[in-house]
Amino acid sequence: MCGIIARVGNGGALEELMAGLENLEYRGYDSAGIAIQSGGTIEVCKREGETSELRAALEGRSLPGNSGLGHTRWSTHGRPSDANAHPHTDCQNRVAVAHNGIIQNHGSLRAELRERGHRFESETDTEVVPHLIAEELDLGMSPEAAFRAAVDRLEGSYALAVTIDSTETVFATRHGSPLVLGVGYDATYVASDAPAFLDFTDTVVYLEEDDYVAIAPDGYRITDASGTPLERPVESINWDAGDAQKGAYSHFMRKEIDEQPVALRQALEGRIEDGTATLEQFPPGSLSDIEHVVFVACGTSYHAAMYGSVLLRRAGVTATVARSNEFAYDPTPLDDRTLVIAVTQSGETADTLAALRVAAGSPSRTLAVTNVVGSTAAREADHSLFIQAGPEIGVAATKTFSSQVATLALLAGRFVADRDSGGDSTDRIGRVLDGLDRLPAAVETVVGSAGPEALAREFSDASSYFFLGRGVGYPVALEGALKFKEITYDHAEGFAAGELKHGPLALVTEDTVIVAVFTGRHDEKTLHNVREAQSRGASVIGVGPESAVAARDTVEEYLSVPALEPELVGVLANVHLQLLAYHAAAIRGRSIDKPRNLAKSVTVE
Ligand code: AGP
Repeated sequence: MCGIIARVGNGGALEELMAGLENLEYRGYDSAGIAIQSGGTIEVCKREGETSELRAALEGRSLPGNSGLGHTRWSTHGRPSDANAHPHTDCQNRVAVAHNGIIQNHGSLRAELRERGHRFESETDTEVVPHLIAEELDLGMSPEAAFRAAVDRLEGSYALAVTIDSTETVFATRHGSPLVLGVGYDATYVASDAPAFLDFTDTVVYLEEDDYVAIAPDGYRITDASGTPLERPVESINWDAGDAQKGAYSHFMRKEIDEQPVALRQALEGRIEDGTATLEQFPPGSLSDIEHVVFVACGTSYHAAMYGSVLLRRAGVTATVARSNEFAYDPTPLDDRTLVIAVTQSGETADTLAALRVAAGSPSRTLAVTNVVGSTAAREADHSLFIQAGPEIGVAATKTFSSQVATLALLAGRFVADRDSGGDSTDRIGRVLDGLDRLPAAVETVVGSAGPEALAREFSDASSYFFLGRGVGYPVALEGALKFKEITYDHAEGFAAGELKHGPLALVTEDTVIVAVFTGRHDEKTLHNVREAQSRGASVIGVGPESAVAARDTVEEYLSVPALEPELVGVLANVHLQLLAYHAAAIRGRSIDKPRNLAKSVTVE
């Protein structure tokens, strides 16, 4: 969590840093701050709250200077406040630091620094860093050497950007937290994520773990921990700056829901030929030795992984799903015939990276299914498969879920082809691949539907919202509930439809709304579960195919989706659930793109 940006170049740094922070705000929005270096002094301005508070605080202040850094925070140590906002400085304001990550040994460092007379202004782990650098400067070290010496003392995870009053050069490094370099015509940037500087350049260098970079007015220099110069490839990023802007939409979430047909077309483009999935990373035969698949993921990506595991099992592959944050504590046996698939939109989720690293230490092969080229997951896994959804800024994941499922469906197609499974599984997955072709157009009809908004109004007073589903409808029910609680703050839970009667039914009253997902497969069983809830007074919203007559006749309200292969109907139903959550949150006046206490990319365990 947290977003950092630094910028050195021609022209004032302030406006570019502010624009960068606004584009990074999805990573944290408890507080924000900037530090500008000019003529041997560092000016810092920081405020609790969103970047708009920082902008207001900067109103009328002139902060000249071509070099500086900024931070937007998601609190880990110390509550959100002006004092805990980054950048943090040393006692004499000679050094300012922006940090993403957690410094584990900050307690002992703080104690020893205090003993040597340093005063601390915040409760953060980060504040030890400027004091450590200042001590090294006092010993006569150069700014770069002082930065390196201080970093040598740190344990934990960090992406750090540091400005020092005696130089325009900004120093940065990464260890366990992301950092990408942006190479512009007039300026060089370093940031947690490329959207921070996409308005200014699309030329990037993905920094590797423990790389150091010095960005100066005349360019940049990358070195390893011992100071040896490194060459890193310079790449062009194919995300458009406009993709990371809201445009005419009031929320990124709504924009990203609407973008799903395009995102799906991008995910599928060129990847199905003559009814066979063709994945550049997996040439024919490359999966033939795999007997088991183990997914690791969190949150929405976990639900996409669950969905993918159903598809793989229908392809005849033994597939299980583990929550990344439990994987290290309850490890699944891994052998050389197992493929561990990390599903992660950002590619930076600390829990999922930890699980991936456990797998990397086993005989199994690893695959990252991610949206971010150059992300840590993509670089650390043996293989990577990109979902090609374009940037997703809203904290609530929407289009990336659909694109993850579509990509995993392609992988299921690759498995049946490689394993030469024949029979039912080949036919089933063949139909899914055919259906994928029609999926983007089908999603297009759902995103335009007015039904979810009307139902969000009709049922806005319920005390709880229970989401039920079976087969691929089960992960969709879990995802529907996650989206609903995440942005409305109302109580919402997802259940396997058949599980309701084993306990949760005790909670069902006439104030409960049941949202039941139908897919066109085993719907009669789900209808039994629906009737069990109805007889306790609950109202039921059904979501499923137009053709599910029995379901439509049984429930109070129905959101229909176009006819499609049952394995893909879940993706369509999920779009209705995204819209239901979106409108319910809008009615309640919630902060839809930045829900309380959350952040887009969770880079702490
Ligand atoms: C869901 O809306 C959330 N943004 C969250 O659950 C997210 O899916 C989870 O934190 C995993 O993120 P990742 O896909 O970037 O790994």
